[in-house]
Amino acid sequence: MDVIDVIVAKRDGHELTAEQIDWVVDAYTRGAVAEEQMSALTMAIVWRGMTRAEVSRWTEAMLASGERLDFSDLPRPTTDKHSTGGVGDKITLPLTPTVAACGAAVPQLSGRGLGHTGGTLDKLESIPGWRADLTPAGMRDRLRDVGAVICAAGSGLAPADRRLYALRDVTGTVESIPLIASSIMSKKLAEGTGSLVLDVKVGSGAFMKDASAARELARTMVAIGTDHGVRTVALLTAMDTPLGRQVGNALELAEAVEVLAGGGPEDVVELTVTLAREMLAAAGLTAAKDPAEALRDGTAMDAWRRMVAAQGGDPDAPLPTARERRTVLAAATGTLTRLDAHAVGLAAWRLGAGRARKEDAVAPGAGVTLHAKPGDPVRAGQPLFTLHADEPERFDRAAQVLAQGYEVDGEYDPLPLVIDRVG
Ligand code: URA
Repeated sequence: MDVIDVIVAKRDGHELTAEQIDWVVDAYTRGAVAEEQMSALTMAIVWRGMTRAEVSRWTEAMLASGERLDFSDLPRPTTDKHSTGGVGDKITLPLTPTVAACGAAVPQLSGRGLGHTGGTLDKLESIPGWRADLTPAGMRDRLRDVGAVICAAGSGLAPADRRLYALRDVTGTVESIPLIASSIMSKKLAEGTGSLVLDVKVGSGAFMKDASAARELARTMVAIGTDHGVRTVALLTAMDTPLGRQVGNALELAEAVEVLAGGGPEDVVELTVTLAREMLAAAGLTAAKDPAEALRDGTAMDAWRRMVAAQGGDPDAPLPTARERRTVLAAATGTLTRLDAHAVGLAAWRLGAGRARKEDAVAPGAGVTLHAKPGDPVRAGQPLFTLHADEPERFDRAAQVLAQGYEVDGEYDPLPLVIDRVG
């Protein structure tokens, strides 16, 4: 087969055959297709799109590039959640042990953050001793003993995506629904979950800024999951404003623990419980304990403590804090009508909570505490944000970003927390 024929076929708007897709993904993974050729093909896909058959086959080919874990022999059904990423999105932390406490096993492979949204592994790594790297056998042991595991994806899972995502990142070809959907789903299918709930974020802090694009991404991913025999549903949820009141690694982890202790912000609790119910239903556990009850009666917290300890973490250890803090005061009196997720994410990133390049370290204690949420009354001069950073010279730029990111007594048009359900 000739790679130029494949590029030209897609450039001219033709549907690629299964043989072309299998060949090009495999040849690229082996290094037999050059980066510039794959980059031309992905750009053609950005412009021409893919049919359902193409996107399903593309995902299959990426899945076939590596190993696929299989936990179907475990006594509990497996189920997982994937979020397309948002600001203050710490939901995986309380959700995974809560679902385990209700009877399912959760094999959650997570990533580190790049850009303005945080990564679940960065948050967990603020716990002294906790480690992200597990072998497949280590995952299996924890799924059997605890029912919950959150760890890094090993390099053997969907290696084609690892390579392709790095290429897309530097060639302006990330923004393509078939490429995003196949990238996410190849990794999720490789982790061996029996069912999957997708949390597709919508709004300024998300990949998908509007609900119609998010709905198309959700439908594409649900179709891929279904084509691969994995019961998949998607919720479209709001990311116009951050989730909860803490943004930053250790700050978010502490907030997640509050939720596990039966408290925490309303939106984080509501989304945790809603997604947990969806996961249990997708796993076929219709008579399971209700997740809200697991948060109230302490069983979700017990599962959290066992999950953390099983990966070397001390659940009782104090979390790291930033060396410096600065309070930002509200400039006006009235109702807070806008608190922009992207601005808060960017501010947290400037404070050191995120990384600019993959190899950078994050500052675990850095971030932003929100003292008001949209809809709350505020008075001029009251604390609106607390900024946390190790270096005080970071404060001014973060405060400048935040000053543009909120509005008092403007138009108030919040998205509902759960916007839609697909599947
Ligand atoms: N996340 C992924 O894993 N892949 C994409 O293509 C985009 C977001």
